[in-house]
Amino acid sequence: MTHVMKSGTLQSDLERKDAHSSESTDRGKQRKVSNPLMFLRRWAANPLQMGSIIPSAPALCMRIARQVRRTPDQFVIELGAGTGVVSKAMLDAGLPPEKLYVVEIVHDMAEHLRDVLPGVNVIEGDARELVKLLPTHVRGNVGTVVCGVPLVLLPLAEQKRFIDAMEAVAPGVGFLHFSYCITSPLPYQKHKLTAKREEWTPRNFPPASVWRYTPEK
Ligand SMILES: C[S@@+](CC[C@H](N)C(=O)[O-])C[C@H]1O[C@@H](n2cnc3c(N)ncnc32)[C@H](O)[C@@H]1O
Repeated sequence: MTHVMKSGTLQSDLERKDAHSSESTDRGKQRKVSNPLMFLRRWAANPLQMGSIIPSAPALCMRIARQVRRTPDQFVIELGAGTGVVSKAMLDAGLPPEKLYVVEIVHDMAEHLRDVLPGVNVIEGDARELVKLLPTHVRGNVGTVVCGVPLVLLPLAEQKRFIDAMEAVAPGVGFLHFSYCITSPLPYQKHKLTAKREEWTPRNFPPASVWRYTPEK
């Protein structure tokens, strides 16, 4: 009995240890993806391009991931993937890596994305050139576009360039956009879009919302 209890205890100790080490492995992997130091350095170099000093928190990434809609053959496009935390959340939610195209303008970040997101299609380039960057078989076969580029910081005409680029590759689909604003980060009527706040979380710095913008019919 003692032996059984002891081995039971040992077993649960081992299980606890195992769970603990797999948790810390997960945390280690998460940290390798998010790479807050690289993010902070890029923010210091170009705050407007980054729009945030740290990567999106897991709670926000999970909320973005659960708003992704696609049929099995459709692709997901992510603009401004940064260090890949949103991409990782979408993969963890079941998106096959070969169905994900991420676009990132910063060379070091694109290299990092290739390293931490095996199988994902990483494109280093300017999202405003999306039509030229995406292969023809992807254009028009997109279920969801996630825009991580901080559009709120841009003048109207520049916002329009991004919106037009997304519309050109995913006609009628619209896009998901996350933001720290209390109200819509985009003047959606001026862009002839409808807007819906799909998610909000206080568990991000700063607290953030996920918006879905769709072209007006
Ligand atoms: C707010 S960060 C978001 C990063 C990541 N998605 C996250 O949630 O942590 C914005 C990202 O957009 C990228 N970016 C800015 N302008 C871009 C552009 N024109 N084309 C592609 N990426 C761009 C920046 O380099 C940066 O990685």
